[in-house]
Parts: sequence; structure tokens; C-alpha cells
Amino acid sequence: MTPDETPRALTIAVLGATGMVGSRVMTEAAARGHRVVALSRKPVDRTARVTPVAVDATDPQALREALTGPVGTAPDAVVLAVRTLPVDRDFLVGTTRTVLDAAAGRGMRVLVVGGAGALRSPGDPARLVADDPAYVPAEWRPVAAAGLAQLDACRRHGHSDWVYLSPPALLEPGSRTGRYRRGSDTLLTAADGTSRISAEDLAVAVVDELERPGADSHITVAEQDGHAAG
Ligand SMILES: NC(=O)c1ccc[n+]([C@@H]2O[C@H](COP(=O)([O-])OP(=O)(O)OC[C@H]3O[C@@H](n4cnc5c(N)ncnc54)[C@H](OP(=O)(O)O)[C@@H]3O)[C@@H](O)[C@H]2O)c1
Repeated sequence: MTPDETPRALTIAVLGATGMVGSRVMTEAAARGHRVVALSRKPVDRTARVTPVAVDATDPQALREALTGPVGTAPDAVVLAVRTLPVDRDFLVGTTRTVLDAAAGRGMRVLVVGGAGALRSPGDPARLVADDPAYVPAEWRPVAAAGLAQLDACRRHGHSDWVYLSPPALLEPGSRTGRYRRGSDTLLTAADGTSRISAEDLAVAVVDELERPGADSHITVAEQDGHAAG
């Protein structure tokens, strides 16, 4: 597809549709004319382009069925944006494998919204953000480790059509500017050293990546300098 070509309408399953990230991805995708299958335990409201499906991802068979059946055809892509509090590494890895299993052989692209901890630390490429106390204080290390395990599960899986999107250090609700910087596997920081994006602009990047897949399997995004997330 050339940069000027209008992307075709996709069917996008969003697992974690009620969450901070998933709800914004759903809104962004529907606003661009894509169909959304919105998956979560607590279903979202049905709209013209959004089909809510209640599913508990701790049940792999129910999740597989939800990913491959509810609108009569398998989605073109799945966005995985689940989180538990406290972090449950086994749940995250197991859910990631189930999604990749369902996607394998059906031509479904999987976009995992993962963690910043899996990125290389700026200024020290040998060090992961997860191991850098400048970005990940001790109490957040289990969360960062779960994100690393999730990326590892993607790398070890036989289905190759996935991309792992690491947010910057700070990801929170804010405003949609429609602009962002895109990188690969190193944390992006602004001139003042901060690393952040609004969940709205992250959603823009997610849908951009689904419409025009890049070559990298690990990507990151950050706000353009001069735009605050809040
Ligand atoms: N800087 C960073 O690295 C950073 C910052 C923030 C978030 N993140 C990542 O971004 C991703 C999304 O996070 P978020 O903040 O959007 O999470 P969130 O707001 O806590 O939402 C979590 C979502 O997961 C769903 N979920 C949880 N357990 C489920 C289950 N058993 N079955 C089905 N759905 C389930 C929830 O839906 P129900 O409760 O309705 O089922 C909800 O939609 C996560 O991978 C998180 O680690 C990274």
C-alpha cells in the first residue's frame, strides 16, 4: 500500500476493551471505520461498529472461540491489552499464547500492548529498562518482568505475525494530538529526559500499525516534544 492509499476496513478484536488502552484503541479504530470485536469480562456498549463479547481470558477455550467466531469470521487483527492488579505473570503469558494460538493459521495479526521494561535503556543499550532503577523502581519490577515474559512468549511462538508495542515510561489518559514519535526497541525520551505518551495517542499508533504494518516486531512510541499527556 502506498502512503496515500486509504486502508481497507479491518475487523479488529480488542482484548481488554474496557481498559485504559483497549477502550481508546476501540474508539480510535471505530472512528476510522474499522469493525471492532470488544472483548472483556464486563462487556462494553454495542454501537454500529462495535460488537461486545463477554469473555474471561482465564478460560482459553472460551477466549479462542471469542477470537474466531462471534461475527461469523475471524478478525484481521487482535490487540492484546489486558492487565491484572496485582500483576499475574502466568495469566499474561498464558493469555498471550492463547491469542497467538488462535491467530496462527488464520492470517490474524497480533499487536501486543506490552511494557516499557522490555525496551533498551537510552544511553546504555546493554541494559533493559526493566533493570534500570531510573525508570523502574523496585516495586514495579514484577510488572516489568511479566512484560518481558510476555515478549519472550511471542518470540518463542510459531506464529510470526505479531508486533509487541512497548509504551514509553509514562502512559496515562490525556488528549489526542494524532502525532507521536515511533522507535523500535529503545526507550524514547524527550529533550528533558521524560518518556511519555497519552493513551489516546498510543491508540492512534496502534491503529496506524494495524493499517500499515511495519517491519519491526518490537516497537515503541512517545509523544512529540512539546505535547503534554494530560
Ligand atoms: N508504561 C508502561 O509500560 C505501561 C503503562 C500502562 C499500561 N501498560 C500496559 O498496557 C496494557 C494495557 O494496560 P491498561 O492500563 O489499559 O490496563 P487496564 O486499564 O487495567 O485494563 C485491563 C483490561 O484487561 C481486562 N481483563 C483483565 N482480566 C481479564 C480477564 N480475565 N478476562 C478478560 N479481560 C480481562 C479488563 O477487562 P475486564 O475487567 O472488564 O474483564 C480491562 O479491559 C498492559 O499490558 C499494561 O501492562 C504499560
